[in-house]
Amino acid sequence: MDFGMKNRLSKIFNPKTGKTVMLAVDHGYFQGPTTGLRDMKGITPLIPNADCLFVTRGILRNCIDPKIDTPVCLRVSGGPSILGDLSNEDITTSMEEAVRLNASGVGMSIFVGAKNEDRTISNLGRLINEAERYGIPVLAITAVGKEMARDSRYLGLACRMAAEIGAHFVKTYFCEDFHKVAEGCPVPIVIAGGKKIPELDALLMTEGAIKAGASGVDMGRNIFQSDNPVGMIKAVRAIVHKGVSAKEAFDIYEKTKKPQSTGSERDIDEQMEKV
Ligand code: R5P
Repeated sequence: MDFGMKNRLSKIFNPKTGKTVMLAVDHGYFQGPTTGLRDMKGITPLIPNADCLFVTRGILRNCIDPKIDTPVCLRVSGGPSILGDLSNEDITTSMEEAVRLNASGVGMSIFVGAKNEDRTISNLGRLINEAERYGIPVLAITAVGKEMARDSRYLGLACRMAAEIGAHFVKTYFCEDFHKVAEGCPVPIVIAGGKKIPELDALLMTEGAIKAGASGVDMGRNIFQSDNPVGMIKAVRAIVHKGVSAKEAFDIYEKTKKPQSTGSERDIDEQMEKV
């Protein structure tokens, strides 16, 4: 691997732990203004707690302070909205643009088992060919079609295919027997969080994934839709980088929660908002 590729990967994966906590905020590219991301200002305090921000170029340009220290991995695929056939994606952002935006990586979805499976795989091949020329790591996202089971057999197939095509790291979902997915995939795997679930469950999922061989997370809704997003990302970090248990991490989340305001404080807050 060339210097540029290694150097960029070391921005995403902490060289001390070999792991990463990526913050996924790209959901709007097919879901529109997702809960928690309607106003992107809400993610500002999360950014310093992330090892990498996974984002589209539009949000990066319009909503993210260029002075941030956190490296960026750009979502470069898209096309259909949540109303259409999600597998009908293409590459939407050029490698030149990724370089211009100082991206440390680029990511796109593949849809193994879906209608446009073969096109998304050949798009991945093309993206990697180009990314290799510039030394930019490619994240392949094993998106799950509506009809596919999220089990180790299917996710293992999708992750292995992505690695065989040349992806430098892969994002997939946690599942039972996740170690089988990790064992069959020769490149690092990060897990997506999926739909919002209770905080302790999301932390247990993180712990389970790390113990089973994941190299981190690329998590969105279970962080930015939490009632304590900063506490939640800190808790996830403690599991990923320090190896604490989910229960210990849950204490971090709980202890960093802002105290609920009393009735009279709430009245004052409401009055202040009107000023
Ligand atoms: C989905 O396709 C997006 O790429 C998200 O980045 C990914 O699902 C991770 O976000 P979440 O943890 O909310 O699932």
